[in-house]
Amino acid sequence: MSTPDLLRVEGLTTAFTVGGRSVPVVRGVSFQVRAGETVALVGESGSGKSVTALSLLRLLPTSGRITGGSVQWRARDLAGLENAALEQIRGGEIALVPQDPATALNPVFTVGDQIIETLLAHAVATPRDVHRRMLDLLDTVHIPHPAQRARDYPHQLSGGLRQRVMLALGLAGDPALLIADEPTTGLDAPTQARIVDLLRELVVQRGLAVLLISHDLDVVASCADRVAVMYAGEIVEQGPARQVLDTPTHPYTLGLLASVPGAEPGTALPTIDGMPPAPGLLAPGCAFAPRCPQRFDPCERLAPARWAPAVDVSTLCHLYDPAGRASATDTPDA
Ligand SMILES: Nc1ncnc2c1ncn2[C@@H]1O[C@H](COP(=O)(O)OP(=O)(O)OP(=O)(O)O)[C@@H](O)[C@H]1O
Ligand code: SF4
Ligand SMILES: [Mg+2]
Repeated sequence: MSTPDLLRVEGLTTAFTVGGRSVPVVRGVSFQVRAGETVALVGESGSGKSVTALSLLRLLPTSGRITGGSVQWRARDLAGLENAALEQIRGGEIALVPQDPATALNPVFTVGDQIIETLLAHAVATPRDVHRRMLDLLDTVHIPHPAQRARDYPHQLSGGLRQRVMLALGLAGDPALLIADEPTTGLDAPTQARIVDLLRELVVQRGLAVLLISHDLDVVASCADRVAVMYAGEIVEQGPARQVLDTPTHPYTLGLLASVPGAEPGTALPTIDGMPPAPGLLAPGCAFAPRCPQRFDPCERLAPARWAPAVDVSTLCHLYDPAGRASATDTPDA
């Protein structure tokens, strides 16, 4: 029997109002995360990974708005929840470790006090045992000398320790799902490897589900059960991690992976010739067409549908239209 979905995202569309115009930056994104599963969102800078994460928890800046789709958490619609109920889920059942540590850690409180506040806010500890629980958490994320470090302010910590504190803060609400947005970016390679080991340990020991947002395909390969590849706000390919990384089907995924062998661990995604389209300036047809070495006749005219080139893999590309290239070429403009 398969594990039920914890998180179910269907057709999520998010837009920002820019210069009085609504510009969609996340376009019809669908994916699921099951209990204990690690799902990775990968893609170039600006592809919509962080906005997807923020949309799930309704944490968008005021210029951003979810304009379509649904987000279900344990079969409850997050969009329809009252703020108070959502507040309990945020930082409780679902923890977000944001891309920017400045938005997660308050510079004027010690890290110990910040963790204590979260433990109390989510009633995970009583005032009597909260100090011990805070130290346990610092220990769980392998921060040496927890009692000493708990008295530090965020700016007194190295990048690696700060990232561990962010993870401890995320774990404080005893989440079932941790959303980790670029948890290894900006760290040196050995520190990155240690953070990856920690994430894997947390998954095994606590049965955590993780939505891992990362530029780093080595990190993704070592952690993820499933991978969703984003381009220009859409998921263009998704499936089991091994399969997507070993036998990619979408030309964009192929491009991402092309120059990875031999790359230093921790290297950012290799670049593909050309630039992603600016949000709001999408040409008709496939968004990747201007950069795609495999584009053919319908690509610049018709938006591709989602096809299943292998079991449990979906790819947004005309190449996999079972009707074949010839008939795709003959398809009239929609
Ligand atoms: N507050 C905002 N107002 C307008 N546009 C925004 C805002 N925040 C993000 N965007 C735009 O939304 C798109 C997606 O951004 P997002 O931060 O999700 O990308 P990302 O995939 O997380 O990139 P990175 O890998 O650099 O973190 C980008 O084009 C970005 O410029
Ligand atoms: S639909 Fe066409 S342009 Fe888009 S990725 Fe597939 S082959 Fe390339
Ligand atoms: Mg981001």
